[in-house]
Amino acid sequence: MPGTVVVGTQWGDEGKGKLTDLLSKEMQMVVRYQGGHNAGHTIVVDGETYILQLIPSGILYDHITPVIGNGVVVHPGVMIREMDKLEAKGIDCSRLRVSGNAHLVMPYHEEIDALTERRLGKNKLGTTKSGIGPTYADKANRIGLRVQDLLDAKIFRQKLDVVLKEKNNVLAKLFNRLPKQIDEIADLYLDEYLPRLRPLISDTVNLVHDALDEGQNVLFEGAQATYLDLDHGTYPFVTSSNPVAGGACVGAGIGPRDIDRVVGIAKGYVTRVGSGPFPTELLGEEADQLIEWAEEYGAVTGRRRRVGWFDAVMMRHAVRLNSLTELAVGKIDKLDQFATIKVCVAYEIDGRRVDRLPYHQSELHRAVPIYEELPGWQCDLSGAFEPHHLPPEAHGFLDLLKQQCGVPIKMVAVGKARDQFVYLGD
Ligand code: IMO
Ligand code: MG
Repeated sequence: MPGTVVVGTQWGDEGKGKLTDLLSKEMQMVVRYQGGHNAGHTIVVDGETYILQLIPSGILYDHITPVIGNGVVVHPGVMIREMDKLEAKGIDCSRLRVSGNAHLVMPYHEEIDALTERRLGKNKLGTTKSGIGPTYADKANRIGLRVQDLLDAKIFRQKLDVVLKEKNNVLAKLFNRLPKQIDEIADLYLDEYLPRLRPLISDTVNLVHDALDEGQNVLFEGAQATYLDLDHGTYPFVTSSNPVAGGACVGAGIGPRDIDRVVGIAKGYVTRVGSGPFPTELLGEEADQLIEWAEEYGAVTGRRRRVGWFDAVMMRHAVRLNSLTELAVGKIDKLDQFATIKVCVAYEIDGRRVDRLPYHQSELHRAVPIYEELPGWQCDLSGAFEPHHLPPEAHGFLDLLKQQCGVPIKMVAVGKARDQFVYLGD
Protein backbone atom coordinates (compact mmCIF):
# COMPACT_ATOMS: atom_id res chain seq x y z
CA MET A 1 0.00 0.00 0.00
CA PRO A 2 1.61 3.22 -1.10
CA GLY A 3 0.43 5.91 1.39
CA THR A 4 3.13 7.64 3.46
CA VAL A 5 2.60 10.38 6.03
CA VAL A 6 5.28 12.86 7.08
CA VAL A 7 4.46 14.32 10.46
CA GLY A 8 6.20 16.75 12.80
CA THR A 9 6.69 15.20 16.22
CA GLN A 10 7.53 18.31 18.25
CA TRP A 11 6.29 21.91 17.98
CA GLY A 12 6.97 22.47 14.31
CA ASP A 13 9.92 23.55 12.18
CA GLU A 14 11.49 20.09 12.42
CA GLY A 15 12.40 20.03 8.73
CA LYS A 16 9.21 18.62 7.20
CA GLY A 17 9.84 20.50 3.95
CA LYS A 18 13.27 18.99 3.48
CA LEU A 19 12.10 15.49 4.42
CA THR A 20 9.10 15.71 2.10
CA ASP A 21 11.37 16.90 -0.68
CA LEU A 22 13.76 14.00 -0.06
CA LEU A 23 11.00 11.39 -0.05
CA SER A 24 9.36 12.99 -3.08
CA LYS A 25 11.85 11.31 -5.37
CA GLU A 26 9.92 8.07 -4.82
CA MET A 27 6.46 9.68 -4.84
CA GLN A 28 4.01 10.60 -7.58
CA MET A 29 1.74 12.79 -5.48
CA VAL A 30 2.23 15.03 -2.42
CA VAL A 31 -0.84 16.11 -0.47
CA ARG A 32 -1.11 18.76 2.22
CA TYR A 33 -3.88 17.72 4.63
CA GLN A 34 -4.23 20.49 7.21
CA GLY A 35 -3.06 23.91 8.30
CA GLY A 36 -2.62 26.84 6.00
CA HIS A 37 -0.06 29.55 5.39
CA ASN A 38 0.96 29.41 9.05
CA ALA A 39 3.43 26.77 7.85
CA GLY A 40 6.85 27.66 6.53
CA HIS A 41 8.55 24.72 4.84
CA THR A 42 12.08 25.41 3.69
CA ILE A 43 13.83 23.54 0.91
CA VAL A 44 17.28 24.40 -0.41
CA VAL A 45 18.14 23.18 -3.91
CA ASP A 46 21.32 24.17 -5.72
CA GLY A 47 21.84 27.11 -3.38
CA GLU A 48 18.33 28.42 -4.02
CA THR A 49 16.04 28.65 -0.96
CA TYR A 50 12.32 27.99 -1.34
CA ILE A 51 9.97 28.74 1.55
CA LEU A 52 6.59 27.14 0.96
CA GLN A 53 3.61 28.06 3.08
CA LEU A 54 0.63 26.58 1.25
CA ILE A 55 1.94 24.71 -1.73
CA PRO A 56 3.04 21.11 -1.06
CA SER A 57 6.79 20.64 -0.96
CA GLY A 58 6.63 18.15 -3.85
CA ILE A 59 6.08 21.05 -6.29
CA LEU A 60 9.82 21.21 -6.94
CA TYR A 61 9.74 17.90 -8.82
CA ASP A 62 8.17 17.78 -12.30
CA HIS A 63 6.87 14.25 -11.85
CA ILE A 64 4.76 15.10 -8.78
CA THR A 65 1.15 16.17 -8.62
CA PRO A 66 0.96 18.53 -5.63
CA VAL A 67 -2.45 18.58 -3.96
CA ILE A 68 -3.96 20.92 -1.38
CA GLY A 69 -6.49 18.73 0.42
CA ASN A 70 -9.90 19.53 1.88
CA GLY A 71 -8.48 19.87 5.39
CA VAL A 72 -6.28 22.84 4.48
CA VAL A 73 -7.43 26.44 4.87
CA VAL A 74 -6.52 28.40 1.77
CA HIS A 75 -5.63 32.07 1.50
CA PRO A 76 -5.87 32.54 -2.26
CA GLY A 77 -3.73 35.68 -2.23
CA VAL A 78 -0.87 33.89 -0.50
CA MET A 79 -1.27 30.89 -2.79
CA ILE A 80 -1.09 33.05 -5.92
CA ARG A 81 1.93 34.95 -4.59
CA GLU A 82 3.63 31.66 -3.89
CA MET A 83 2.85 30.35 -7.38
CA ASP A 84 4.18 33.58 -8.92
CA LYS A 85 7.43 33.27 -6.99
CA LEU A 86 7.87 29.64 -8.00
CA GLU A 87 7.04 30.34 -11.64
CA ALA A 88 9.55 33.19 -11.69
CA LYS A 89 12.12 30.53 -10.77
CA GLY A 90 10.97 28.30 -13.62
CA ILE A 91 8.77 25.93 -11.61
CA ASP A 92 5.55 24.96 -13.34
CA CYS A 93 2.55 25.31 -10.99
CA SER A 94 -0.14 24.21 -13.44
CA ARG A 95 0.03 20.68 -11.94
CA LEU A 96 -1.18 21.98 -8.59
CA ARG A 97 -4.67 20.92 -7.46
CA VAL A 98 -6.78 22.41 -4.69
CA SER A 99 -9.81 20.83 -3.08
CA GLY A 100 -13.18 22.48 -3.64
CA ASN A 101 -14.01 21.59 -0.04
CA ALA A 102 -11.05 23.46 1.45
CA HIS A 103 -12.11 26.53 3.40
CA LEU A 104 -11.08 30.02 2.41
CA VAL A 105 -9.15 32.34 4.68
CA MET A 106 -10.93 35.70 4.39
CA PRO A 107 -9.65 39.20 5.22
CA TYR A 108 -11.74 39.34 8.41
CA HIS A 109 -10.11 36.12 9.64
CA GLU A 110 -6.65 37.64 9.48
CA GLU A 111 -7.81 40.86 11.11
CA ILE A 112 -9.66 39.08 13.93
CA ASP A 113 -6.68 36.79 14.57
CA ALA A 114 -4.33 39.76 14.99
CA LEU A 115 -6.83 41.81 17.03
CA THR A 116 -7.59 38.88 19.34
CA GLU A 117 -3.90 38.38 20.02
CA ARG A 118 -3.54 42.05 20.85
CA ARG A 119 -6.57 41.95 23.14
CA LEU A 120 -5.20 38.92 24.99
CA GLY A 121 -2.04 40.88 25.86
CA LYS A 122 0.29 38.78 27.99
CA ASN A 123 -2.11 35.82 27.66
CA LYS A 124 -1.71 35.75 23.90
CA LEU A 125 -1.12 32.43 22.12
CA GLY A 126 1.59 33.78 19.88
CA THR A 127 -0.23 32.81 16.67
CA THR A 128 1.15 33.56 13.24
CA LYS A 129 -1.73 36.04 12.82
CA SER A 130 -2.60 34.49 9.50
CA GLY A 131 -6.26 33.91 10.35
CA ILE A 132 -5.97 30.14 10.75
CA GLY A 133 -7.88 29.83 14.05
CA PRO A 134 -10.80 32.07 12.98
CA THR A 135 -11.09 30.22 9.64
CA TYR A 136 -11.29 26.79 11.28
CA ALA A 137 -13.71 28.22 13.88
CA ASP A 138 -16.05 29.35 11.10
CA LYS A 139 -15.73 25.94 9.45
CA ALA A 140 -16.82 24.23 12.69
CA ASN A 141 -19.50 26.87 13.14
CA ARG A 142 -20.73 26.14 9.60
CA ILE A 143 -20.43 29.69 8.38
CA GLY A 144 -17.20 29.27 6.43
CA LEU A 145 -16.76 29.90 2.72
CA ARG A 146 -15.23 27.12 0.68
CA VAL A 147 -13.06 27.16 -2.41
CA GLN A 148 -15.97 25.77 -4.44
CA ASP A 149 -18.15 28.73 -3.44
CA LEU A 150 -15.94 30.85 -5.68
CA LEU A 151 -17.37 28.98 -8.66
CA ASP A 152 -20.82 30.46 -8.14
CA ALA A 153 -20.68 34.23 -7.70
CA LYS A 154 -24.28 34.45 -6.51
CA ILE A 155 -23.81 31.88 -3.77
CA PHE A 156 -20.46 33.38 -2.81
CA ARG A 157 -22.00 36.83 -2.34
CA GLN A 158 -25.02 35.45 -0.48
CA LYS A 159 -22.88 33.55 2.00
CA LEU A 160 -20.48 36.44 2.36
CA ASP A 161 -23.35 38.81 3.05
CA VAL A 162 -24.61 36.65 5.94
CA VAL A 163 -21.22 36.10 7.51
CA LEU A 164 -20.05 39.68 7.03
CA LYS A 165 -22.95 41.03 9.10
CA GLU A 166 -21.71 38.94 12.01
CA LYS A 167 -18.05 39.74 11.46
CA ASN A 168 -18.68 43.46 11.16
CA ASN A 169 -20.55 43.32 14.43
CA VAL A 170 -17.60 41.67 16.11
CA LEU A 171 -15.15 44.09 14.52
CA ALA A 172 -17.18 47.12 15.60
CA LYS A 173 -18.33 46.08 19.07
CA LEU A 174 -15.36 44.10 20.28
CA PHE A 175 -12.52 45.85 18.50
CA ASN A 176 -13.86 49.26 17.55
CA ARG A 177 -13.03 48.72 13.88
CA LEU A 178 -14.66 49.91 10.67
CA PRO A 179 -16.96 47.46 8.85
CA LYS A 180 -15.66 45.47 5.89
CA GLN A 181 -17.38 46.07 2.56
CA ILE A 182 -18.89 43.15 0.69
CA ASP A 183 -18.02 44.54 -2.75
CA GLU A 184 -14.38 45.01 -1.89
CA ILE A 185 -14.02 41.39 -0.73
CA ALA A 186 -16.19 39.91 -3.49
CA ASP A 187 -14.23 41.78 -6.18
CA LEU A 188 -10.93 40.62 -4.77
CA TYR A 189 -11.95 36.98 -4.47
CA LEU A 190 -14.07 36.66 -7.61
CA ASP A 191 -12.31 38.96 -10.05
CA GLU A 192 -8.72 38.76 -8.95
CA TYR A 193 -8.27 35.38 -7.24
CA LEU A 194 -10.76 33.12 -9.02
CA PRO A 195 -9.28 33.33 -12.55
CA ARG A 196 -5.96 32.05 -11.17
CA LEU A 197 -7.53 29.37 -8.99
CA ARG A 198 -10.25 28.08 -11.33
CA PRO A 199 -8.09 25.66 -13.35
CA LEU A 200 -6.68 24.17 -10.15
CA ILE A 201 -9.94 23.50 -8.27
CA SER A 202 -10.58 19.75 -8.22
CA ASP A 203 -12.24 16.77 -6.64
CA THR A 204 -9.08 15.95 -4.77
CA VAL A 205 -10.54 13.00 -2.86
CA ASN A 206 -11.06 11.01 -6.05
CA LEU A 207 -7.76 12.29 -7.43
CA VAL A 208 -5.92 10.84 -4.42
CA HIS A 209 -7.87 7.56 -4.50
CA ASP A 210 -7.31 7.09 -8.22
CA ALA A 211 -3.58 7.55 -7.64
CA LEU A 212 -3.62 5.03 -4.77
CA ASP A 213 -5.67 2.57 -6.84
CA GLU A 214 -3.10 2.80 -9.62
CA GLY A 215 -0.40 1.90 -7.11
CA GLN A 216 1.17 5.35 -7.15
CA ASN A 217 3.13 6.46 -4.10
CA VAL A 218 1.30 9.26 -2.33
CA LEU A 219 2.88 11.31 0.41
CA PHE A 220 0.74 13.20 2.91
CA GLU A 221 2.71 16.22 4.08
CA GLY A 222 1.81 17.38 7.56
CA ALA A 223 2.20 20.99 8.57
CA GLN A 224 2.76 22.18 12.15
CA ALA A 225 3.25 19.25 14.49
CA THR A 226 2.03 16.75 17.06
CA TYR A 227 2.23 19.12 20.05
CA LEU A 228 0.47 21.88 18.13
CA ASP A 229 -2.44 19.50 17.45
CA LEU A 230 -5.80 20.87 18.54
CA ASP A 231 -6.67 17.67 20.40
CA HIS A 232 -3.31 16.29 21.46
CA GLY A 233 -1.10 19.36 21.79
CA THR A 234 -0.51 21.69 24.70
CA TYR A 235 -3.96 23.30 24.48
CA PRO A 236 -4.70 26.21 24.18
CA PHE A 237 -1.19 26.87 22.88
CA VAL A 238 -1.86 24.92 19.71
CA THR A 239 -2.99 25.46 16.17
CA SER A 240 -6.61 24.89 15.14
CA SER A 241 -6.19 21.74 13.06
CA ASN A 242 -5.03 18.13 13.52
CA PRO A 243 -1.45 17.75 12.29
CA VAL A 244 -1.16 14.20 13.76
CA ALA A 245 -0.96 11.42 11.18
CA GLY A 246 -4.64 10.57 11.65
CA GLY A 247 -5.42 14.08 10.39
CA ALA A 248 -4.33 12.90 6.95
CA CYS A 249 -7.41 10.67 6.82
CA VAL A 250 -9.83 13.51 7.48
CA GLY A 251 -7.91 16.20 5.65
CA ALA A 252 -7.37 14.22 2.45
CA GLY A 253 -10.40 11.91 2.47
CA ILE A 254 -8.61 8.58 2.87
CA GLY A 255 -9.09 5.77 5.37
CA PRO A 256 -6.51 4.51 7.90
CA ARG A 257 -5.84 1.45 5.72
CA ASP A 258 -4.58 3.72 2.94
CA ILE A 259 -1.54 4.60 5.06
CA ASP A 260 1.26 2.11 5.49
CA ARG A 261 4.19 4.25 6.50
CA VAL A 262 4.35 7.13 8.96
CA VAL A 263 7.63 9.02 9.09
CA GLY A 264 8.01 11.29 12.08
CA ILE A 265 10.48 14.11 11.95
CA ALA A 266 12.21 15.55 15.00
CA LYS A 267 15.09 17.90 15.49
CA GLY A 268 18.00 16.62 17.58
CA TYR A 269 16.82 19.27 20.06
CA VAL A 270 13.48 21.05 20.40
CA THR A 271 12.19 24.44 19.37
CA ARG A 272 8.90 26.20 19.87
CA VAL A 273 7.51 29.53 18.67
CA GLY A 274 4.71 31.12 20.58
CA SER A 275 3.56 30.52 24.14
CA GLY A 276 2.95 27.33 26.13
CA PRO A 277 4.69 24.76 28.30
CA PHE A 278 8.13 23.49 27.28
CA PRO A 279 9.76 21.23 29.90
CA THR A 280 13.29 21.14 28.44
CA GLU A 281 13.45 24.81 27.50
CA LEU A 282 16.84 26.46 27.84
CA LEU A 283 17.16 30.00 29.08
CA GLY A 284 19.98 32.50 29.28
CA GLU A 285 23.37 31.86 27.77
CA GLU A 286 22.78 28.23 26.79
CA ALA A 287 19.69 29.27 24.83
CA ASP A 288 21.49 32.18 23.17
CA GLN A 289 24.24 29.81 22.14
CA LEU A 290 21.93 27.26 20.52
CA ILE A 291 19.87 29.96 18.81
CA GLU A 292 23.04 31.47 17.38
CA TRP A 293 24.56 28.16 16.24
CA ALA A 294 21.27 26.79 14.94
CA GLU A 295 19.92 30.06 13.45
CA GLU A 296 16.59 29.45 15.16
CA TYR A 297 14.46 32.23 13.72
CA GLY A 298 11.07 31.67 12.05
CA ALA A 299 11.24 30.98 8.29
CA VAL A 300 8.30 33.30 7.60
CA THR A 301 7.77 35.47 10.67
CA GLY A 302 11.46 35.88 11.59
CA ARG A 303 10.51 35.33 15.25
CA ARG A 304 13.23 34.07 17.62
CA ARG A 305 12.35 30.53 18.56
CA ARG A 306 12.44 29.07 22.04
CA VAL A 307 14.95 26.22 22.25
CA GLY A 308 15.62 23.22 24.49
CA TRP A 309 17.11 19.73 24.68
CA PHE A 310 15.57 16.67 23.01
CA ASP A 311 12.61 15.39 25.00
CA ALA A 312 12.22 11.62 24.74
CA VAL A 313 9.15 11.62 27.00
CA MET A 314 7.22 13.71 24.50
CA MET A 315 8.66 11.70 21.64
CA ARG A 316 7.50 8.36 23.08
CA HIS A 317 3.99 9.80 23.24
CA ALA A 318 4.29 11.17 19.71
CA VAL A 319 5.25 7.67 18.50
CA ARG A 320 1.93 6.41 19.89
CA LEU A 321 -0.22 9.32 18.71
CA ASN A 322 1.01 8.95 15.14
CA SER A 323 1.78 5.22 15.04
CA LEU A 324 5.19 6.14 13.69
CA THR A 325 6.96 3.47 11.69
CA GLU A 326 10.23 5.41 11.74
CA LEU A 327 11.85 8.64 12.76
CA ALA A 328 14.00 11.08 10.80
CA VAL A 329 16.21 13.36 12.85
CA GLY A 330 16.81 16.81 11.45
CA LYS A 331 19.49 19.44 11.97
CA ILE A 332 21.89 17.38 14.10
CA ASP A 333 24.73 19.44 12.60
CA LYS A 334 23.40 22.31 14.72
CA LEU A 335 24.72 20.45 17.76
CA ASP A 336 28.25 20.18 16.31
CA GLN A 337 29.85 22.59 18.74
CA PHE A 338 28.45 21.35 22.05
CA ALA A 339 30.91 19.60 24.41
CA THR A 340 27.97 17.90 26.12
CA ILE A 341 24.58 17.03 24.70
CA LYS A 342 21.60 16.31 26.91
CA VAL A 343 18.58 14.13 26.26
CA CYS A 344 15.58 14.25 28.58
CA VAL A 345 14.61 10.64 29.36
CA ALA A 346 12.00 11.21 32.09
CA TYR A 347 10.53 13.98 34.24
CA GLU A 348 10.52 14.59 37.92
CA ILE A 349 7.10 15.85 38.97
CA ASP A 350 6.40 16.62 42.62
CA GLY A 351 9.27 14.40 43.69
CA ARG A 352 8.23 11.41 41.53
CA ARG A 353 9.98 10.06 38.45
CA VAL A 354 7.54 10.05 35.53
CA ASP A 355 8.22 8.28 32.23
CA ARG A 356 5.01 9.20 30.43
CA LEU A 357 3.65 12.53 29.35
CA PRO A 358 1.26 13.59 32.12
CA TYR A 359 -2.29 14.09 30.90
CA HIS A 360 -2.80 16.92 33.37
CA GLN A 361 -1.08 19.91 31.84
CA SER A 362 -0.41 21.60 35.21
CA GLU A 363 1.96 18.72 35.87
CA LEU A 364 3.73 19.37 32.61
CA HIS A 365 4.33 22.95 33.76
CA ARG A 366 5.97 21.58 36.92
CA ALA A 367 7.92 18.83 35.16
CA VAL A 368 11.68 18.96 35.73
CA PRO A 369 13.63 17.08 33.07
CA ILE A 370 15.83 14.16 34.06
CA TYR A 371 18.71 14.18 31.59
CA GLU A 372 21.16 11.71 30.25
CA GLU A 373 24.32 13.54 29.27
CA LEU A 374 26.39 12.46 26.32
CA PRO A 375 29.73 13.67 25.01
CA GLY A 376 29.35 15.94 21.97
CA TRP A 377 31.17 15.15 18.72
CA GLN A 378 32.59 18.65 18.34
CA CYS A 379 33.28 18.37 14.64
CA ASP A 380 31.58 19.43 11.44
CA LEU A 381 28.91 16.96 10.30
CA SER A 382 27.74 18.99 7.32
CA GLY A 383 29.72 16.95 4.78
CA ALA A 384 28.57 13.53 6.01
CA PHE A 385 26.56 11.37 3.61
CA GLU A 386 27.33 7.81 4.73
CA PRO A 387 26.71 6.35 8.21
CA HIS A 388 30.44 5.78 8.69
CA HIS A 389 31.05 9.53 8.18
CA LEU A 390 29.31 10.16 11.49
CA PRO A 391 31.63 10.09 14.53
CA PRO A 392 30.98 7.54 17.33
CA GLU A 393 29.54 10.27 19.55
CA ALA A 394 26.88 11.09 16.94
CA HIS A 395 26.02 7.40 16.64
CA GLY A 396 25.86 7.24 20.44
CA PHE A 397 23.40 10.12 20.45
CA LEU A 398 21.22 8.53 17.76
CA ASP A 399 21.35 5.13 19.50
CA LEU A 400 20.09 6.72 22.70
CA LEU A 401 17.22 8.41 20.84
CA LYS A 402 16.31 5.13 19.14
CA GLN A 403 16.42 3.21 22.40
CA GLN A 404 14.38 5.89 24.22
CA CYS A 405 11.73 6.31 21.53
CA GLY A 406 11.37 2.70 20.38
CA VAL A 407 11.37 3.38 16.63
CA PRO A 408 14.08 3.02 14.01
CA ILE A 409 15.90 6.16 12.86
CA LYS A 410 16.36 5.87 9.13
CA MET A 411 17.52 9.32 8.16
CA VAL A 412 19.50 12.17 9.65
CA ALA A 413 19.77 15.66 8.18
CA VAL A 414 23.14 17.39 8.48
CA GLY A 415 22.46 20.64 6.64
CA LYS A 416 19.90 22.63 4.71
CA ALA A 417 20.70 21.52 1.19
CA ARG A 418 18.80 18.72 -0.51
CA ASP A 419 21.81 16.37 -0.51
CA GLN A 420 22.88 17.02 3.10
CA PHE A 421 21.52 13.93 4.76
CA VAL A 422 22.68 10.50 5.88
CA TYR A 423 20.59 7.45 5.15
CA LEU A 424 21.08 5.03 8.02
CA GLY A 425 19.24 2.14 6.43
CA ASP A 426 16.59 -0.20 7.75
P1 IMO B 1 5.50 24.53 10.27
O1 IMO B 1 4.59 23.74 9.38
C1 IMO B 1 5.97 26.27 14.21
C2 IMO B 1 2.39 27.92 16.13
C3 IMO B 1 2.34 29.40 16.37
C4 IMO B 1 1.51 29.45 17.63
C5 IMO B 1 0.50 28.33 17.42
C6 IMO B 1 -0.85 28.80 16.87
O2 IMO B 1 6.44 25.44 9.59
O3 IMO B 1 6.17 23.61 11.25
P2 IMO B 1 -1.61 29.60 14.44
O4 IMO B 1 -1.16 30.76 13.60
O5 IMO B 1 -1.43 28.27 13.81
O6 IMO B 1 -3.00 29.78 14.99
O7 IMO B 1 -0.65 29.64 15.72
O8 IMO B 1 1.09 27.45 16.48
N1 IMO B 1 2.64 27.52 14.73
C7 IMO B 1 3.81 27.01 14.30
N2 IMO B 1 4.98 26.83 14.93
N3 IMO B 1 5.85 25.88 12.94
C8 IMO B 1 4.68 26.01 12.29
O9 IMO B 1 4.48 25.49 11.07
C9 IMO B 1 3.60 26.64 12.94
N4 IMO B 1 2.34 26.96 12.61
C10 IMO B 1 1.76 27.48 13.71
O10 IMO B 1 3.63 29.93 16.56
O11 IMO B 1 2.29 29.09 18.75
MG1 MG C 1 8.22 26.36 9.79
